[in-house]
Amino acid sequence: MCGIIGFAGRDEAAPFLLDGLARMEYRGYDSAGIAVRSETLGLQVNKTKGRLQVLSDLIHGGADMKGNLGIGHTRWATHGEPNDINAHPHVSEDGKIALVHNGIIENYAEIKEQLMKYGVKFQSETDSEVVAQLLGYHYKECGSMLEAVGRVLRRIEGAYALGIICADYPNTLIAARKDSPLVLGYSEKGNFIASDVTAIIKHTRDVVYMDDGEIAILTPDSIDVFDDEMNLQSKEHSVIDWDVSAAEKGGYPHFMLKEIYEQPEAIRKTLSPRIREGKLVLDDFHMSKEYLQEISRIFIVACGSSYHVGMVSKYNWERMLRRPVEVCLASEFRYSDPLVDDKTLVIFISQSGETLDTMAALRESKRLGGRTLAIVNVVGSSIAREADDVLYTWAGPEIAVATTKAYSTQLVLMDLIGLYLADLLGTVSKEEYQTILQAVEALPEQMEAELKGLENVSYFASRYFNHDSIFFIGRNLDYAMGLEGSLKLKEISYIHSEAYASGELKHGTISLIEPGTLVVALGTYGPLFDKAMSNVVEVKARGAEVLALTVEEQLEKMQKVADSVVVVPGTHPVVQPSLGILPLQLFAYYVALQRGCDIDKPRNLAKSVTVE
Ligand code: AGP
Repeated sequence: MCGIIGFAGRDEAAPFLLDGLARMEYRGYDSAGIAVRSETLGLQVNKTKGRLQVLSDLIHGGADMKGNLGIGHTRWATHGEPNDINAHPHVSEDGKIALVHNGIIENYAEIKEQLMKYGVKFQSETDSEVVAQLLGYHYKECGSMLEAVGRVLRRIEGAYALGIICADYPNTLIAARKDSPLVLGYSEKGNFIASDVTAIIKHTRDVVYMDDGEIAILTPDSIDVFDDEMNLQSKEHSVIDWDVSAAEKGGYPHFMLKEIYEQPEAIRKTLSPRIREGKLVLDDFHMSKEYLQEISRIFIVACGSSYHVGMVSKYNWERMLRRPVEVCLASEFRYSDPLVDDKTLVIFISQSGETLDTMAALRESKRLGGRTLAIVNVVGSSIAREADDVLYTWAGPEIAVATTKAYSTQLVLMDLIGLYLADLLGTVSKEEYQTILQAVEALPEQMEAELKGLENVSYFASRYFNHDSIFFIGRNLDYAMGLEGSLKLKEISYIHSEAYASGELKHGTISLIEPGTLVVALGTYGPLFDKAMSNVVEVKARGAEVLALTVEEQLEKMQKVADSVVVVPGTHPVVQPSLGILPLQLFAYYVALQRGCDIDKPRNLAKSVTVE
């Protein structure tokens, strides 16, 4: 997604802007630009298609742009192809106002048409430029930037995070947000706006998250936040406790590999405040037993890998709670006239907390009277702040576009919540409760040991990286886990892959299995291991090459039917996917490495999809 950075300080702005944009490259972008204001040179704007380095080279690392006030932007194209003209910042016709925008202005076309009738000339195809020109138009009319901003925000519809500077206002940076995140940073060097804290953590840990409809006025010495009626707001400050290295690679070749190996530690952080003396303690969970007994329906709503967490949780929760659990793709749920009422619990899983499809589904659920619970990694994110309740995964910043540690911490947190609910509702025995809880507590150590023993995965990747189609087959929890294994492979190696319920294969898709087809057969779910084995035999009979995944105790049996076997530690079925997913993540990583793909920033993808 687009990245925004802004600075109002005492030092030159350009270096802060370029550094901030560099720290947001992981969000995915196709062009970049900055605008700086100085007393002598007025408003200077430089923007280019391509990587940030192209822009930095153009302005000699920022040395060409003088001034202590500025805004910067990395663009992930939504309206208008990636090129220099469509890049941000956009400038009003009179050259006085520069603006950066993250989001989508839904009524941009009618506003553009109106402004063109007034004679305004547009440079780009973007919706964002319409905001800049509208701002210029109103500023010319009323002579006050704040008044002009207010008029513009009342006119535009859609999602926006805006950074605005004006040649007539030497030390003033204006910010506004609705549906697109924007954080304010306070430092002795000056004050910042940013799309996320990664961009400014090097300069400050003292931040404020803007809420929808708010406007912020920043100077080098102050930040004032107003609501949409210009009432001054007193905002709660947050202290970011990440260390800067957490946003660096820490010696790994890629963020993705670092984050794969961070999973045990991330899960420790997810668990530690929630298990005390052998008991689950969910302080941030505010649903009473009586309320839960009234619940008639549970939905889990998410996108991508977060949706795959929901698929695993469905199997686990229905077993533990003996209640129906529906898992829905957020983009489908919101337009499906969902059966949500005041007896419905809707759970939203999102790493970024900004996925617009998930956010929209959340708002629809609230409109229908449902109770909403968010499982989110980014503190203070939009979904976290709009849900009735939020539980954080505390995985730390996840930089690689392909999620790993966030997925794993979501998985474990959903296991904990399911167990907690089952205990409240009395649908699991005390023994089962303790057995599962102990299995969860053992995960970090088991994962650490497991990760040390998976060298053979890179060998298999070197054998199979040239395949152009790979199947992941499994039953029940293995099938749900296979969905994530398949997505990991697709999104970073660009190999077509499909996860398939192996019992369903014979009903059609098995026609695609031919000599040499690679099938990753998942056999870690104990109760259906024999079925998994027979499905291996089934595809082998059609000539498939089978790479199987199973637990130590089943190794000998699986070796009799599969061509190769990767072994993972055995544990309770509820948490077995947490161990099974590690080799699948590594397999995707090493295949992508062999294929020379851009592992941390895969083509066409963004870390957080804040567009529909
Ligand atoms: C995961 O590897 C993908 N990058 C993507 O599917 C992601 O899980 C999805 O876009 C949802 O993102 P969220 O968890 O931030 O809502």
